[in-house]
Amino acid sequence: MSVEHEIENLLHEQRRFAPSKDFVASAVAKPELYEKAKADRLEFWADQARKLHWHKPFTQTLDWSDAPFAKWFHDGELNVSYNCIDRHVEAGWGKRVALFFEGEPGDRKVYTYLDLLKEVKKAANVLIKLGIEPGDRVAIYMPMIPEAIIAMQAVARVGAVHSVVFGGFSADSLASRIQDAGAKLVITADGGYRKGKASALKPAVDEALANGNCPSVENVLVVKRCGNEVDWDKNRDLWWEEEMAVADAEHVAQGFNAEHPLFILYTSGTTGKPKGILHTTGGYLTQASYTHKNVFDLHEGQDVYWCTADIGWITGHSYVAYGPLANGATQVIYEGTPDSPDWGRWWDIVQKYSVTILYTAPTAIRSFMKLGRTVVSHYDLSSIRVLGSVGEPINPEAWMWYREVIGSNNAPIVDTWWQTETGAIMISPLPGITQAKPGSAQVPLPGIEIKILDDDGHPVDKGHGGLLAITEPWPSMLRGIWGDPERFKETYWSKFEGIYFAGDGAKFDEDGDIWLLGRVDDVMNVSGHRLSTAEIESALVSHAYVAEAAVVGAKDETTGQAVVAFVILKRSALDGLGSEADTSKILREHVAKEIGPIAKPRTIFVVAELPKTRSGKIMRRLLRDVAEDRPIGDVTTLADTSVMDTISGRMSQGASD
Ligand code: WTA
Repeated sequence: MSVEHEIENLLHEQRRFAPSKDFVASAVAKPELYEKAKADRLEFWADQARKLHWHKPFTQTLDWSDAPFAKWFHDGELNVSYNCIDRHVEAGWGKRVALFFEGEPGDRKVYTYLDLLKEVKKAANVLIKLGIEPGDRVAIYMPMIPEAIIAMQAVARVGAVHSVVFGGFSADSLASRIQDAGAKLVITADGGYRKGKASALKPAVDEALANGNCPSVENVLVVKRCGNEVDWDKNRDLWWEEEMAVADAEHVAQGFNAEHPLFILYTSGTTGKPKGILHTTGGYLTQASYTHKNVFDLHEGQDVYWCTADIGWITGHSYVAYGPLANGATQVIYEGTPDSPDWGRWWDIVQKYSVTILYTAPTAIRSFMKLGRTVVSHYDLSSIRVLGSVGEPINPEAWMWYREVIGSNNAPIVDTWWQTETGAIMISPLPGITQAKPGSAQVPLPGIEIKILDDDGHPVDKGHGGLLAITEPWPSMLRGIWGDPERFKETYWSKFEGIYFAGDGAKFDEDGDIWLLGRVDDVMNVSGHRLSTAEIESALVSHAYVAEAAVVGAKDETTGQAVVAFVILKRSALDGLGSEADTSKILREHVAKEIGPIAKPRTIFVVAELPKTRSGKIMRRLLRDVAEDRPIGDVTTLADTSVMDTISGRMSQGASD
C-alpha cells in the first residue's frame, strides 16, 4: 500500500468519541477558552501568565519587534522554582504529595510539596556554594530519580541554566553538549537501575571530562543511587548527599526577568551537530502550566498524574519537571523500563498509585499492543480517566487499543503535537470539548495559530496537505539556538517569511482536523525520539572501515521508524573483515558508543555505491524505497541509473538483529 493511499484511508476515519456528560460537566477547559483566545490572543495569554506568581508584574505581553527573537512578558520578574513549589506550600498545600517515586528495584519514596521545598532550597545552597551564578550552565546527566527533578528545580531557583543530557547518551555526546553550553558543573549519579541491573553513569562523565576535554567544568556532583564503585577525582567530585547534609536550609527565591534563560535542550537537526534549543522563564512556564492543566483536565488535589517520559527529553521538562509542579499536581515518576521485572510493571504502578492521567508515547502503546490484552487484564486500571499521547503520529489501531484496553473504553485520549522547539503542546483535542477522532491530533489549542502551507507558502484548504507552520508567536517558543542565532533563523524562519516552519508534513481532513504525517526533512523519529540522519552518518564515517554512509528512516511496526544505514567500506578495510554480519555488528556498536544505543541502526547494508544526483546529493527517497521493501521510484535524475539495481539486488542480504 502506498503512503498516499494509507493517508487517504486515514482521512476517511469515521469514528468519533464524544466526552461523557459527567466529564463535560466538571471539565477544566470550557469552550469559552477558544472564544477568549480568538477575541484577543495576547490578552488571553496575559491572563494565563497572571495565574503565575510574579515578583514584579509585567505590563507588556509580547515584544515581537526583533522577530524571530520574541520577548514575552519581558518587563516582569518571576522565579520558576517559587512558582512550582513555594507558592503551593504558602497556600497551605505543603502536605500534598508532589512526587510518588517508584524505583525499578521496587523501592518507593514520597515527597510532599513541603519535602520538595526543603530539598530544593538545600540544593540551591549547594549550587551557590559551588560558585554557580545566574546565567551559568549546569549539565544534568541522571537517571529518573527525584534528585534529578530537585536538581533541575534548584538550578532554576538560582537563575542558572540547565542542560539535561539523556542518561542513555554516550560519553562523546555528553562531552559535546557540555562543551557547546560551556557547563561549569555536572550533576550526575553513580548509576541508575535499568532492566534489573545497576547501570553506571559516572564512568561516562569521567570519560567525557578526561584529558581536559571539557575545561569549563569545575565540579561534578554525584548522587549515590546504586552504590556501585566509581572512580573519584578529589579535586573535582563531590557526593550530593554529603553536600546536602551540610547545606543551609533557608533560601529565598529571587525574581528573574521573564526572558532570563531557563534551560538548553539539545535536539537533532538536519545537519550533523545537535542544536541547543533555548527556553526562557515567563512564557515557557505560562504555556507549560496552561497546557498541562487544560489538556489533561487536571484537578489538583484529586488527580494522580503520570508522564512516562524521561527528563532527558522535552516532555520530561514541560510535563514532569515544570508544568505539573507549577499546577500543584501529584505525580508519579518511575526510574526503570516497562518490562522490568515483566511487562506488567506500568500497570502495576497505575493500580498501586491509582493513576488517573497517563501520558505516554505511541511506541510504548504499540509494544503493549503486540503482547495482547492478557498482561494488562491482571491489573485494575479503572482509576484512569484521561490518556495522552506524544512523540509521533499514533495510528488509529493503537489509538483504539489505548482507549479500549487502557482507558476502559471511556477515558478521552489527547493526541498532543508539539516539539522541543515549541516548548509546550500546540495541537491537541481538549478532553471535555473535542469529539475525539482516532489518529488525528485535531485542532490548535486556544491561543495557537497554525496553518498548513503548500510549497509556495499558500494556505491549503480542507482536504489538502502541505507543510505545518505556526503563524503567530507563542509564549513557550524557543528563543534561539544556543550560540548560533543565524542557524536559528535559517532552520525555522527562512522557508516562509515571518512564519515558523516545524519540519512536519500535515493534512486537513474534510472537517478541518489536522493529521500529522511525519517529518519532511532528514530527521527520523525512532520511538518518539528525534535522530538526525546526518548525525548517524557522521558517526558511521568516523569508523576506520567506512568510506561513505547514508542513513534513512524506514517504517517500523513498533518504533514508528527505524534507522537503516547504507555504507560503503574502504578498500583497505575489506581484506581484514569477517562476514557482513560481523561488520554490521561492529558498526552498530560503534554508533552506540558515539551517540547512544538509541541511534543504533536496525539494519546496515554494505553497498558498493550510493544513489546520487548529478550534483552529488544522495537520493534518500530511493534508499527509503529499498529500506521499506517497495518498488524503487523514479531514478531518472540519478547520475548513474544502474546503481539502484545493484543496491536493491542486495536487499535480502542485509544484516540485522
Ligand atoms: C513528532 C516531542 C505526530 C513531530 C514533544 C515533531 C508528533 C517531533 C506528535 C518533535 C504527535 C510529536 N503526532 N507527530 N502527537 N508529537 N511529534 O522535539 O514530528 O522530541 O516535529 O518533541 O515529534 O519531537 P521532539
